[in-house]
Amino acid sequence: MRPIGSPAAPDLGPYLAALAERVERRLGERLPPADERPAAVHAAMRYAATGPGKRLRPVLTLAVDEMLGGGQTAAADLAVAVELVHAASLVLDDLPAMDDADRRRGRETTHRAFGEAVALLAAFGLLNRAFALVAEAGQRLRLSRYTPEDLVHHLALAIGSEGLIGGQALDLEAVAGPPALERLEYIHSHKTGALFLAAAELGAMAADARRRDLEAVAAYAKNLGLAFQITDDLVDVLSTPEEAGKDTGKDAGKVTFVGLLGVDGARALAAELLDFAVAALEPLGRRADPLRVLARYVLGRKR
Ligand code: IPE
Ligand code: IPE
Ligand code: MG
Ligand code: MG
Ligand code: MG
Repeated sequence: MRPIGSPAAPDLGPYLAALAERVERRLGERLPPADERPAAVHAAMRYAATGPGKRLRPVLTLAVDEMLGGGQTAAADLAVAVELVHAASLVLDDLPAMDDADRRRGRETTHRAFGEAVALLAAFGLLNRAFALVAEAGQRLRLSRYTPEDLVHHLALAIGSEGLIGGQALDLEAVAGPPALERLEYIHSHKTGALFLAAAELGAMAADARRRDLEAVAAYAKNLGLAFQITDDLVDVLSTPEEAGKDTGKDAGKVTFVGLLGVDGARALAAELLDFAVAALEPLGRRADPLRVLARYVLGRKR
């Protein structure tokens, strides 16, 4: 029985869950077979990418695409590319030189299961596969406002040294004294926010979105991504490893919003950011309801 006062974590609801299943199927189809040479690397790529993750970023891509009237099949490949990039970032994040984690998605981390050398190659294999998929999808999509190069460029910038890599770099740097809010926001919005933003923007671009709609979706995704990392820091201190599916209590030596504001302060900030996210959807009306559900899910998540 659930203790009184401990609300059930919200779920994604039938629509977003169906999008996650679509991603799941497509993921399996768009990776090289595990027994194709170099078999160890391909097996590790599949292990890392198809393990039981939540698939929130690719779901965001597809939800935005459908909301804005896209629906072309190539959009699913953009969603898969986003998830491959995310999976690669997790493989690297877990390495001994980074967070040195043993468990991910309820099982051993990729370097634990395959060794560090293969894990590194698999991460780069996933990244390159992702860019190949974006380039191919860009050619198949019939768009008037965006070119295939726009899509590739967007993703490349999001995960480069001025995006995800920048956030990861500062996350690892120890700084003396109490962390400044500005630095924390940089870390969170880069290491995690940048890919949420790219996920949503790729969805909008796949739907040939007008500038106005793209901007609304971007404002939503920026706030969602930042809130997502704050709730990840909450998961690190509040969830058991079984609930989280990964090592918890790993952030002890790191600068986090929980460290700066405490559990209640961090949760309040995440809630406020998610309110901003939802407010940005106003011009899109009821069409944006799935994105509202996603925001609620992020606030209540335990994993
Ligand atoms: C974990 O992301 C890494 C962060 C950026 C916080 P997720 O919590 O989305 O991980 P999976 O994909 O569900 O395993
Ligand atoms: C990870 O942040 C961000 C990226 C993978 C880019 P964390 O280090 O907090 O993620 P977890 O907690 O290991 O999933
Ligand atoms: Mg990390
Ligand atoms: Mg980590
Ligand atoms: Mg974390």
